[in-house]
Amino acid sequence: MPMAAASTDSQPSARQAFFRLPIISVFLSCFMLSLFPSTALASSGVGVEDAESRLKNLYPEILRDEAVARLHQLGGVSDANGYLERTFLSPASVKAGNLIREWMEDAGLRTWIDYLGNVHGRVEGRNASAEALLIGSHLDTVIDAGIFDGPLGIISAIAALKVLNSNGKLQTLRRPIEVIAFSDEEGVRFQSTFLGSAAVAGILPASALHISDKSGVTVEDVLKDNSLDITKENLLQVKYEPRSVWGYVEVHIEQGPVLERIGLPLGVVKGIAGQTRLKVTVRGSQGHAGTVPMSMRQDPMAAAAEVIVLLESLCKHPESFLSYDGHCNSSSVESLSSSLVCTVGEIATWPSASNVIPGQVTFTVDLRAIDDMGREAVIYEFSNQMYQICDRRSVSCTVERKHDANAVLCDSELSKLLKSAAYSAVTRMTGEIQGDVPVLMSGAGHDAMAMSHLTKVGMLFVRCRGGISHSPEEHVLDDDVWASGLAVLSFLEIQL
Ligand SMILES: *[C@@H]1O[C@H](CO)[C@@H](O)[C@H](O)[C@H]1NC(C)=O
Ligand SMILES: *[C@@H]1O[C@H](CO)[C@@H](O)[C@H](O)[C@H]1NC(C)=O
Ligand SMILES: [Zn+2]
Repeated sequence: MPMAAASTDSQPSARQAFFRLPIISVFLSCFMLSLFPSTALASSGVGVEDAESRLKNLYPEILRDEAVARLHQLGGVSDANGYLERTFLSPASVKAGNLIREWMEDAGLRTWIDYLGNVHGRVEGRNASAEALLIGSHLDTVIDAGIFDGPLGIISAIAALKVLNSNGKLQTLRRPIEVIAFSDEEGVRFQSTFLGSAAVAGILPASALHISDKSGVTVEDVLKDNSLDITKENLLQVKYEPRSVWGYVEVHIEQGPVLERIGLPLGVVKGIAGQTRLKVTVRGSQGHAGTVPMSMRQDPMAAAAEVIVLLESLCKHPESFLSYDGHCNSSSVESLSSSLVCTVGEIATWPSASNVIPGQVTFTVDLRAIDDMGREAVIYEFSNQMYQICDRRSVSCTVERKHDANAVLCDSELSKLLKSAAYSAVTRMTGEIQGDVPVLMSGAGHDAMAMSHLTKVGMLFVRCRGGISHSPEEHVLDDDVWASGLAVLSFLEIQL
């Protein structure tokens, strides 16, 4: 699931300005070495020749310079004028897919496009019948998007394979490696996320082909318009056999501020939060703002306000609301406290006039946590307390569950390998032994969520400026692009 669109406020907020200064100083202190690796090493007593050969093994021209140039090039492939927009199989998406396909071929991969418009690039390595490692991310974007969300994972994987190819090591890989650029993750056009990865994982129902966009065009129409002969049978062909796949790995921008705060470019993802979306409707007694005495009101707006504040308290301190014996034991309450986030992002009122006590207020609740039982317990507790508030205020409240997705835990073995790959990438770049690679939780959904139905998954997060995404303000340092390519390379070297 995409994250909610970033604030549309175009003026830089005071908060952003406040955070920028300390962030810059963190960058400087942390990247001084990586910006000038040879000088740093020379002055610490290591020979200049060693430093130069070490720098050569870091492949900055492929993993950084070319990758960054490609990210910008892809960022210019848009359906809109003046901002980035690439929705499922739009003309710009097709163009982006073709560009990615060229880059895959340039890296020595065999390429094809499947019936859902996913772009694949594969190398068989030494043993074509061994289980394949899939590495992917999405090529579609939100509206007015940044250039890194999705493409970074695709481009860093292609860059790492290009390095292996230029070293003549591509054919010596122990198992087939396949990069997949998924055609739809954000779900902007059809309001249905993961069309591409769900089809590969085999969890996309044939009924999804009949979903239509705002203008009544269906997924099937769009595929056929692009000469992709989608049928029920062909949809099944997109699905991979679980036994042919070893695992799935995804590199993605963090879309949060944690790595930047810690001052490190890479982190390993522990899991992707489960999510529930609710719609709450509060009905009261509509009336004249001037004539109904306060004591005689059944005001759904005030009730909604109290319920929303209750939700905030509950999600800030679940431990003081949930009993340990009922739905939740102490360990799940603990993991809840660190991962639970709740948001009311949309509210509507009827009739919405300044001189009318509303008759009805509806609002959404977006609730995410890494612990599925804990999430259920919070929803249960929230509903209970909400009904008490509504009873006390004599308004009627109803809750509808609009969407549910269970949490996905990343595979511990893959995570361990990714962790050491990230460690070795950062160590190679800075020439210094690093502290532990941080382990993070993902609050946003990713293709790895769908792919977890097919195989074990692992994810690497890359630092992005201010934690901002889904905005043209989204930014990843050139050196962090380098770090992510180097981490994929280190990860692939384990497969040699
Ligand atoms: C190739 O992989 C298959 C499937 O894992 C395995 O059975 C076979 O022994 C492998 N062949 C070689 C030569 O390693
Ligand atoms: C607590 O709940 C978690 C899952 O929510 C479970 O994995 C764990 O085993 C439980 N612990 C005890 C002591 O019941
Ligand atoms: Zn994304």
